[in-house]
Amino acid sequence: MSKAPIELDAPRCASARAGANFALIKYWGKRDLALNLPDVGSISLTLERLCTETTVSFDPALDADELLLDGRPDPARTPRISAFLDLLRARAGMRAFARVETANDFPTAAGLASSASGFAALTVAVNAALAAGWDARTLSELARIGSGSAARSIFGGFVEMHRGERDDGRDSVAEPLAGVGHWPLQVAVAISTRAEKAVGSTEGMQRTADTSPFYRAWVEHQPADLAEARAAIADKDFERLAEVAEGSALAMHGLAMSARPGLLYFNATTMECLHRIRALRADGVPVFFTVDAGPQVKAICEPVALPTVRDALADVPGVLDVVESGLGPGAEVIDS
Ligand code: DP6
Repeated sequence: MSKAPIELDAPRCASARAGANFALIKYWGKRDLALNLPDVGSISLTLERLCTETTVSFDPALDADELLLDGRPDPARTPRISAFLDLLRARAGMRAFARVETANDFPTAAGLASSASGFAALTVAVNAALAAGWDARTLSELARIGSGSAARSIFGGFVEMHRGERDDGRDSVAEPLAGVGHWPLQVAVAISTRAEKAVGSTEGMQRTADTSPFYRAWVEHQPADLAEARAAIADKDFERLAEVAEGSALAMHGLAMSARPGLLYFNATTMECLHRIRALRADGVPVFFTVDAGPQVKAICEPVALPTVRDALADVPGVLDVVESGLGPGAEVIDS
């Protein structure tokens, strides 16, 4: 029999910071919707600069959960956060509503992975506020239920998310592949819109799994890409990583385009940036691209190439801004 949840007699509060992550080998498709189990493993880089900071206050005086995003109430996103908090409260055996104050230092939902850093920061903040004592693997498992990519932002540097085999999701967790110091790559993001995307990743990947005639082929091919990327990262073989990461990003977008109706995340500027990056690499500049469920282009490069890559992207018509970041640590508790 499960124990009755403990009622709090005083507010409990904690803050955490998590970096966004960009997948080199993409997650696109689920094998279970309720537990948010991925149908494919994935490999990502956790970033230093594109961060979410979240403060959670469990307060017995509240009569509902509240979400403030960048200082403003966000009723549209509150139900997803509240459902996630229900899960964490049940795991921790606590009962009290919470105020969640969260701030991103990048445009929310424009393809810069705000759900990854957001759910990772929230999970780590709740763990601290409720003194739940969850270890990193458990934090990754819980963050995954909030958003699949969030499982990876628990860890820093190069991270692998496992598809897992179990129905309960205990093995669908991320783990660190290599630390920041192993290969301190840099990232430049070409921002070409600040608007929110029309079809979010959750809906987009479901539509793809339900309707694309090529979905099974994508799932079957993924282990080969994961193995290739793992080997390229271990050997710090830039060209090898560039080829497999661009291949995975283009395969994901090709697959998304083959859904019915097809998903078009690129805009004209996205395409220009991809050509620019390919031309730079052909000229010997160590850079490759990846693109997620939005139009922003993420250029990954060796540190020496960053000024060239930044200037080349800033020069593409339609690029509004170029944001730079190194690789960063996993999600961590910070002072409130
Ligand atoms: C294109 O993690 O946002 O960024 O699990 O439904 O929350 P949910 O999806 P989400 O999807 C990320 C998709 C992607 C590729 C990736 O990050 O691997």
